[in-house]
Parts: sequence; C-alpha cells; structure tokens
Amino acid sequence: MHAPIIRLLYISDAADGLDDDAVNAILKSAGKNNPPLGITGVLVFGGGVFAQVLEGPERGVLEKYVQVMADSRHRNCRVVYITTAIRRLFEGVSMAALQALPMELAHIAELDAHRKETVPDEAFASLMNVFFSRLQALP
Ligand SMILES: Cc1cc2nc3c(=O)[nH]c(=O)nc-3n(C[C@H](O)[C@H](O)[C@H](O)COP(=O)(O)O)c2cc1C
Repeated sequence: MHAPIIRLLYISDAADGLDDDAVNAILKSAGKNNPPLGITGVLVFGGGVFAQVLEGPERGVLEKYVQVMADSRHRNCRVVYITTAIRRLFEGVSMAALQALPMELAHIAELDAHRKETVPDEAFASLMNVFFSRLQALP
C-alpha cells in the first residue's frame, strides 16, 4: 500500500526578465530539497507563467508551497487544483522542468480563467496526462 499523498497544481506569474539560469537555480534547489520531503512533480514554464505540480505528503507539500509562494522570482501564486491521491503521477521525479508548448499555455490559461469555478476533474487530469506524456518522451 502506498501512503496517501496530495497533489497540488498552482499557476504564478514569472518575475520580469526571468531567464533559463533562474529556472536552473530553482531546479537545483528542488533537486536538493524535494527528495528528503518526499516531494515529486513538474515545473512548467513559458509565456511569463509558471505552472507547477507538487505531490507528496500533505504537510511537506503545503509547507513547500507556502515557502515557494514567498519567492520573488514569481508572484501571484494561485492554486488551481488540489486533490488527494493514492499514487504519484511523477514517481521518482524530484522536479522535472518543461518549457510549455503553446497548446499547453492555452490549456493553463483556460484552467486559470476557470479557477473560481469548479475545475472539472477531467480538465485537470488531461493536463496532467499531457505533462506526463511529455516527460516520458524526454530522452
Ligand atoms: C516557480 C518556483 C518553483 C519552485 N519549486 C521549488 C521546489 O519544488 N522545491 C524547492 O525546494 N524549492 C522550490 N523553489 C525555490 C524555493 O522558493 C526556495 O528558494 C528554495 O527552496 C530555497 O532553498 P535553498 O536555499 O536550499 O536553495 C521554487 C521557486 C519558484 C520561483
């Protein structure tokens, strides 16, 4: 049996002029800090926004999210979806990074726009599947 986890997706606005070096520095921190917290996920960036999935034990994920929210490399963090889960989507991935494709940016914008309504489970699941298949396709 797997221990129950939570999965959180948030979107934020990247700070002006944020470059690849800044994203690499974030990934370096994540690679160091996430494994001991049992956090896995994916960080998608492009078009001036970040979308990040954090999954793992509830306390670790929420504490990390609160810490990340305060990071000046982005602002206006908003949770788009949060759910309990019995298994990870990003098993073994301390934090992958993906440059968002235009279609994904559109998908992210759509979820963002409907954030104040109930995001249908299918909309969330289908975005997760897109991210997941892209990670599988990485060399
Ligand atoms: C968009 C974004 C995503 C981040 N994701 C993570 C993450 O998954 N794990 C993490 O430890 N830090 C993440 N950070 C960085 C944290 O805000 C913080 O700078 C870092 O954890 C500090 O740890 P360090 O001093 O050990 O590098 C993220 C920052 C930003 C802007």
